[in-house]
Amino acid sequence: MRLVVVILGADFEIPPDMARLLTGESVSVLIDSEDDLVAAREQGRALASQLKLSSTDIVRIATVISELARNVLVHARRGEMQFRAIDDGRRRGIVITARDEGPGIERPDRAMQDGYSTSGGFGLGLPGVRRLMDEFSLESTKAGTTVTVTKWSDW
Ligand SMILES: Nc1ncnc2c1ncn2[C@@H]1O[C@H](COP(=O)(O)OP(=O)(O)OP(=O)(O)O)[C@@H](O)[C@H]1O
Ligand SMILES: [Mg+2]
Repeated sequence: MRLVVVILGADFEIPPDMARLLTGESVSVLIDSEDDLVAAREQGRALASQLKLSSTDIVRIATVISELARNVLVHARRGEMQFRAIDDGRRRGIVITARDEGPGIERPDRAMQDGYSTSGGFGLGLPGVRRLMDEFSLESTKAGTTVTVTKWSDW
């Protein structure tokens, strides 16, 4: 068995980004255009499948990344997203952070309610993201907005 593992280890090279993620380091994607949104979604999807999250959770994660990246583009113009693998000894999970440098959310409490939008959107992005993930935190001042979400594996 050990031999098989060694052979597999030699045969399949883990891409450098993924290797860093699996050792607990984070990978960042700058968000400055629609292309970056696609890159961020791919990065998150790859990490989630590497962590053996369910296919349903992978779809949830891709949706969340799209919503958070779009909020950065639409409301803050640019920012970055960060992806990190975590392990609490029982479960594995993915932590996703979207960060920008302003203008900030004027009423964060209202922004978390369904239907609140300052841009003529549906206003479902942030409340939807909260519903799709296991943990959610939002910090926003005029200096910028940081949204951090976590999804744990089921087992
Ligand atoms: N990164 C951000 N920077 C500044 N304001 C933000 C940011 N993200 C969200 N907001 C504010 O919070 C509101 C609610 O965000 P939410 O994503 O729920 O809705 P939306 O982006 O307006 O519409 P959609 O349903 O298309 O996502 C936004 O209209 C905007 O005012
Ligand atoms: Mg939105």
